Amino acid sequence: MARRGSPLIIGVSDEGHLVASDVSAMVRYTNKVVHLRENELATVTADDFSISTASAKLIERGTETVEWRAEDAELNGFPHFMLKEIYEQPYTIKNAFRGRLEPGEGVPKLGGIMPVWEDLKNCRHMVLVACGTSYYAACVGKYIFEKLTEIDTEVGLASEFRYRKLNFPPNTFVVAISQSGETADTLAAIKEAKRKGATLLGIVNVVGSTISRETDGGIYNHAGPEIGVASTKNFTSQLTTLTLLALLLGRHQHLSLTEGIQAIRALEALPDQVRELLGQSSHIEAIAEKYYHCTNWLFLGRKYNYPIALEGALKLKEVSYIHAEGYAAGEMKHGPIALINPEMPTVAIIPKDEMYEKMLSNIHEIKSRKGPVIAIATQGDERVRELVDDIIEVPPILDFLSPMLSVIPCQLLAYYCAKFLERDIDKPRNLAKSVTVE
Ligand code: M6R
Repeated sequence: MARRGSPLIIGVSDEGHLVASDVSAMVRYTNKVVHLRENELATVTADDFSISTASAKLIERGTETVEWRAEDAELNGFPHFMLKEIYEQPYTIKNAFRGRLEPGEGVPKLGGIMPVWEDLKNCRHMVLVACGTSYYAACVGKYIFEKLTEIDTEVGLASEFRYRKLNFPPNTFVVAISQSGETADTLAAIKEAKRKGATLLGIVNVVGSTISRETDGGIYNHAGPEIGVASTKNFTSQLTTLTLLALLLGRHQHLSLTEGIQAIRALEALPDQVRELLGQSSHIEAIAEKYYHCTNWLFLGRKYNYPIALEGALKLKEVSYIHAEGYAAGEMKHGPIALINPEMPTVAIIPKDEMYEKMLSNIHEIKSRKGPVIAIATQGDERVRELVDDIIEVPPILDFLSPMLSVIPCQLLAYYCAKFLERDIDKPRNLAKSVTVE
């Protein structure tokens, strides 16, 4: 067999050898793997394998050990991987920052970016590229970078990146964000960015994946195998690693020790807050039961939570096949308000932050047109409670970390709607976990 374009991995075990395109398919059988590189050939038998170049030159390559455990790839009593992975988030968020925080200094330690640190600490222009849910993590990341650093940060859809005329200022960093590390569009985007002189970083979950090898440095998410096609736990891990990177760079710029310590304390408190939020699952299930028959939904948010509106709509679409639109709430008056009617629920993300009054006014506009509103609001918000049809309360948190909490009710709403509609939740139609074609 040969690798050209798509990933190819050999699994090595005493009971035979395996071939797959994704490590998560292997971990039930072995944690010893060998990654084929582009244009390499492999001959695999039950008890041996060899790798050669296209010109038949033999290549010596040892196995890599995947740290994931076999039980991480099992359902462990959950009905679906999507639900299991949503519930894993208190642990996976912690895994993303475990051993990486220096609370006294208000600064994280990130060994994987040390090879490029001298350039990175002086970087003034950064581009975050990704697809799908990872792209929405990038969109949140842009706001976090703007909050914590002085780096001019832009986001790019990897699938569109190659069509742009790229003209990077000196010392530009392009950060590829990808769960699988194998997404063809993201790989093509970083290849083009490299050609145009950017330094590459990867924020990747799968250790040893192509993006992790093609980049000059990076940060692993350590979220463990994500089996459900709909990405959930990996999203909050990506937000955690993006926050760590922004915090590290911010602390080398204007960010004070007090602000650094405050951010680290808030990150450390997050796993318990997520656990508390997951305690509301049956309430969220009841909301899903009330609305799953509605065929059109709207998700609204502003600033940090605008990308969560996009992600909430994507999650609902992909697992339940319900049509949903995610919008920046300020754009509602420019078009989508025409859709509002009693049959169309709006999920309004309204934490108590600087956007609060503006979101409240959006909710008033929807209610005056008899649209049902499900609010994701801060605990104890009586003004919102009195105004909306249903409320999901999230614990108070620093504004730039609020997406990590507000996304969880969106994930659960999507999951339960799909459950009531009896969809194939872990393998939605027409979708693949790793999109290795352009
Ligand atoms: O492996 P990646 O993070 O690069 O994958 C990107 C998208 O294909 C992925 O997020 C996709 O949108 C998911 N189905 C979303 O749940």
